[in-house]
Amino acid sequence: MDKMTWWKEAVVYQIYPKSFQDSNGDGIGDLRGIINRLAYIKELGANVIWLCPVYMSPMDDGGYDISDYYHIHPMFGTDADMDELIEKAGEMGIKILMDLVVNHTSDEHEWFQEALQNPKSKYADYYIFKETKDGNPPNNWRSYFGGPAWERVEGTNRFYLHAFSRKQPDLNWENRELREEIYRMVNYWLDKGLGGFRIDAICNIKKRMEYGFFQPDGEDGLRYIGDFILNQPGIEEFLYELNERTFRPHNSMTVAEANVPEELLEQFIGEKGFFTMVFDFSYADIDVPDTGEWFRPRHFTVSELRKNIFNSQKMVQEKGWGAVYLENHDQNRSVNKYLPKEDIHYYSKTMLGSLFFFLRGTPFIYQGQEIGMENMTLESIADYDDIATHGQYERALKAGIREEEAFAIVAKRSRDNNRTPMQWDEGKNAGFSDAKSTWMKVNPDYKRISVARQEKDGESVLNFYRKLAGLRRGGKYASVMTYGVFLPYEVEEASVIAWQRIADTERLLVIHNFQNREGVVKIPEGYDEKVIGNYKSEYFNTGSYRLKPYESIVLYKTTE
Ligand code: NOJ
Repeated sequence: MDKMTWWKEAVVYQIYPKSFQDSNGDGIGDLRGIINRLAYIKELGANVIWLCPVYMSPMDDGGYDISDYYHIHPMFGTDADMDELIEKAGEMGIKILMDLVVNHTSDEHEWFQEALQNPKSKYADYYIFKETKDGNPPNNWRSYFGGPAWERVEGTNRFYLHAFSRKQPDLNWENRELREEIYRMVNYWLDKGLGGFRIDAICNIKKRMEYGFFQPDGEDGLRYIGDFILNQPGIEEFLYELNERTFRPHNSMTVAEANVPEELLEQFIGEKGFFTMVFDFSYADIDVPDTGEWFRPRHFTVSELRKNIFNSQKMVQEKGWGAVYLENHDQNRSVNKYLPKEDIHYYSKTMLGSLFFFLRGTPFIYQGQEIGMENMTLESIADYDDIATHGQYERALKAGIREEEAFAIVAKRSRDNNRTPMQWDEGKNAGFSDAKSTWMKVNPDYKRISVARQEKDGESVLNFYRKLAGLRRGGKYASVMTYGVFLPYEVEEASVIAWQRIADTERLLVIHNFQNREGVVKIPEGYDEKVIGNYKSEYFNTGSYRLKPYESIVLYKTTE
């Protein structure tokens, strides 16, 4: 069995601070708002919070463009508020993870400003600058957000590299002094008592710098930058050092945003891994092509989803530990992604909840997922805040897709779907804020979907999530649910996803009917006890079980 550790037993709640709870009436969520809602998070059953970035930032990319790592953006509150959040959460048994964004900074960071103004200063080597003779960019890499990955410094032939927006220059990890600055900053936060970090875009820190013209892979004449900067040889030296100097001495929980190929996985999450866990992209991004071009949606079947989940579970469990999630701030709402529009309801939403809670790995709930929040489509492309949405839209048009169709595609996948304000109640701005208007519109469905409404209803998505988290955090089934080995359970039905979790003398059988019709599965002997299910039916083991549409049921047995 796996070594027992606190972060394996955790349930994580991810907060997008701008949209969680406004406490001062400016229409933007803040740290005090989070402090005021700690009791809600505790009651949900989470004991770790991951906060998306709250540092100083011009907010070109939702705070993933940091201009000062040591201070909190005033829109979120003060440095003292952050200390208070860590302390108050700690008193309630909740640890805080911050976002660590060290592949790039904001172009407004003082290091970059120095580097721009004084090319001879030491800060110029903190970034990746390149001068060309002809005034053309050093190569034709495409940034992840679309458009060239090089930006010219005005009035010169000097360019800097940015894998994301042009306001996010990439850091040069080859520079030792820069690495020391990063370790100092990471330790500054860990010494305050943080539980750890979610680590952004970390697989990009080692670059294979090559110049010239590469075979384009799109209508824009550019080439996917990931081919040159993702998981490049030598990255392990940087990651090893980062861990040794910061996380390991603090026994931190570290979740890397890293799509790691199987051969590197052991180094990342093994016994002596660089991180305690990684996110897996294979099922959350099942609708996105490998090149990240979500303006060309990938269609998928339930069988494919099952295959991806099973492969990922088997691969990760051979090497170490993983983080499981259906949603985050870079996704659209899971119910809109995985379910046909006409099938979005209590049963299908709770089935999805059960699907991810019973996998092996630490579950991450994204704010609003626990009440089954849904996508929100805005009126026109100009209404979208998310920089990636605009990038994808532009590329869709360049690829010859008509405006209307391009809009429909990007609106469905836009990251803004998950960045709408949290829906607390049926009052003004869904209880998110007292302001006249909020930084992003509240989804008009808030009268139908809100915390207050679901708290009163025993049969709500929220109460189902509370039960799931409760089961995972303690009681009879928690151990097998957390540490049980994952074993696929073969069924004849193409749209049923089932598996077992196996501990010494305990077993779970986890079954999900991913379709709007009945399905029948065989039940092995001994599975006589129902752990949880989204239908109220009585259960007896008769050797087979007839599942209702979108039913999920979890059964238990002991082998002694
Ligand atoms: C991944 C983050 O989750 C995303 O929101 C951000 O845009 C990029 N990394 C760049 O930091």
